[in-house]
Amino acid sequence: MQASQNADKWQWLEAELQRLRQHNLYRTLKVLEGAQSSHVLWQGRDMLMLASNAYLDLCNNDEVKRMAVQYILSHGTGSGGSRLTTGTSDIHVQLEETLAGFKGREAAIVFNTGFAANSGIIPALCSSADDVIFSDELNHASIIDGCRQSPGRTIVYRHNDMADLEQKIKATEVRGHGLIVSDAVFSMDGDIVDLPGLVQLAEKYNLLSMLDEAHATGVIGRTGHGTEEHYNLPGCVDILMGTMSKALGAEGGYVCGSQKLIDFLRNKTRSYIFSTSLGPGTMAAALAALQVIEREPQRVHRLQENVRWFCQCLRQEGLADNIPEQAATAIIPIHIGDEAQAVRVSDHLLAEGYFISAIRYPTVKRGQAILRAALMSSHTRQELAQAAGAIARAIAQS
Ligand SMILES: Cc1ncc(COP(=O)(O)O)c(C=O)c1O
Repeated sequence: MQASQNADKWQWLEAELQRLRQHNLYRTLKVLEGAQSSHVLWQGRDMLMLASNAYLDLCNNDEVKRMAVQYILSHGTGSGGSRLTTGTSDIHVQLEETLAGFKGREAAIVFNTGFAANSGIIPALCSSADDVIFSDELNHASIIDGCRQSPGRTIVYRHNDMADLEQKIKATEVRGHGLIVSDAVFSMDGDIVDLPGLVQLAEKYNLLSMLDEAHATGVIGRTGHGTEEHYNLPGCVDILMGTMSKALGAEGGYVCGSQKLIDFLRNKTRSYIFSTSLGPGTMAAALAALQVIEREPQRVHRLQENVRWFCQCLRQEGLADNIPEQAATAIIPIHIGDEAQAVRVSDHLLAEGYFISAIRYPTVKRGQAILRAALMSSHTRQELAQAAGAIARAIAQS
């Protein structure tokens, strides 16, 4: 029997696609034709990239690429199995040791993606109906999915609101163990978690603390080591999760913590146990990126300086009300509101040579669409000043 004979069975799917189109929520791919860097090639045109998470421009870095190629030549392309079977080679171990050192922890474990890390470790840690997870309302989807996979209760607290969190902790009986989990740098708003407040509550109520440093590593802290460095609170978080797919320019999620925690996660996390591990080239790229960041903190300083400069330019262009008063990370949300207008502004900017994403529901709340500008250390001041002008014109004309 041919699969297409009964067209009726797909009607619901077409109806849903239609609904997405009607509400300006239908998504399509933009196909880049070369490397990810501050300039990219799209439809044969040179574009200024203002949407990438490759904050330190390491996807296309010579040293990182050379190390990846070297390991592909010596170790091959795939790992051939999950970590606990045949999928652990010396480069996996070296990367985990380096990550642990980078984050000042005893040990680290690498996952295939940041998504697999969050969605795997939360149900591994909170595996009983008696367990409770306290989760920020703006946490990343992978944390939300991790909470959904736990049999424990998830209690969502108001965004970065420690008073609300404390009230909810007090009102909750935790019969098993409790976990507070938060993005370190929120992936759409670009603001930073109130870490002193969060760890104080974790201590006071004997709860585990977990941070997702996807957008913090390589970005915040004097030398790019992340949130604990930013607040000068070394070692204060129990479970430090992150991803190598952003500032590190590679792929793969990780968790850093005590040896006991890492041993537990290796034995209990389904997304780690039942998935073929990442190949040697990717592991080598991440390792080289960490070495570059340790050796060249000036990349982080340039990124942080670019953030200050770009915000200044946006304010000078009359967009002070569209951006946060204090932007301190590489993610700068430019408030638009209406979904259709956000798409028009982004299309306008694409036509002008600027690659910048319109972020809409369900990634952000309905009616709160933004342009999500993401900066790189390699953007020049002139490029950013011109981009700020183009953004202001696009908003005015859309
Ligand atoms: C805060 C946050 N956590 C986790 C992830 C998932 O990481 P990955 O892209 O490596 O799966 C992302 C991004 O995609 C993210 O923004």
